[in-house]
Amino acid sequence: MKIRKLQYGEIPPYELLLLADPSRALVEAYIAEGECYVAEENRESIGVFVVVALSKNTIEIKNIAVREDRQGQGLGKKLLHQAIEVAKSNGYAHIEIGTGNSSIGQLALYQKCGFRISSVIKDFFVEHYDEIIMENGIQCRDMIRLRLQI
Ligand code: COA
Repeated sequence: MKIRKLQYGEIPPYELLLLADPSRALVEAYIAEGECYVAEENRESIGVFVVVALSKNTIEIKNIAVREDRQGQGLGKKLLHQAIEVAKSNGYAHIEIGTGNSSIGQLALYQKCGFRISSVIKDFFVEHYDEIIMENGIQCRDMIRLRLQI
C-alpha cells in the first residue's frame, strides 16, 4: 500500500470521498481548495484524505475514508498519521477534523490518535444536508470539532 498526493488533472476517488461525506457539492468544493491524497494497492484506490488550510497555522482534514472491504484493518489510522505528517512537514501548528455526534467509531479513532475535542457546531448537519443522517441509531445533528497540536 502506498499513499501519494493526487496530481493536478487526476480524477479524485469520489466513491470513497462520498463514504465520508454524502454531499458531492461540498466534496467538489473542498477538493478544489485543498490537497487530496490516495492510498493505492494494485493500482486501486483503497483510501483517501483531503486537507485544506484554514489559516497560516491550522490545516483541516476535510475528508478521510477507507474502502468498505478494507475498513477496520488499521488503514484509517495510517491515513490519519500521514495527514499529520503532511501538516508537520508544511509547518502547521495545529490539525483539525470535524465529525458527527453520531460517528462513534470516528470519535474513538481520532482521540486514539491524540486529537482532543475543541468545540461543537450545533445543528451543522441539520442545516447543511438535505436528508436526515442516522448512524448507530443516533441522528447526526452536531459537528464535533477535534484538534491536535503538532
Ligand atoms: N469504540 C472504540 N474504538 C473504536 C470504535 C468504537 N466504537 N470504533 C472504531 N474504533 C477504533 C478501532 O478499535 C481502531 O483503533 P485500534 O487500532 O486502536 O484498535 C480505530 O478506531 C479504527 O482504526 P482503523 O482500522 O485504522 O480504521 P479504518 O481503516 O476502518 O478507517 C474510517 C476509519 C473512519 C476512515 C473508515 O471506517 C471509513 O472510511 N468510514 C466511512 C467514512 C467516514 O466515516 N469517514 C470519516 C468522516 S468524519
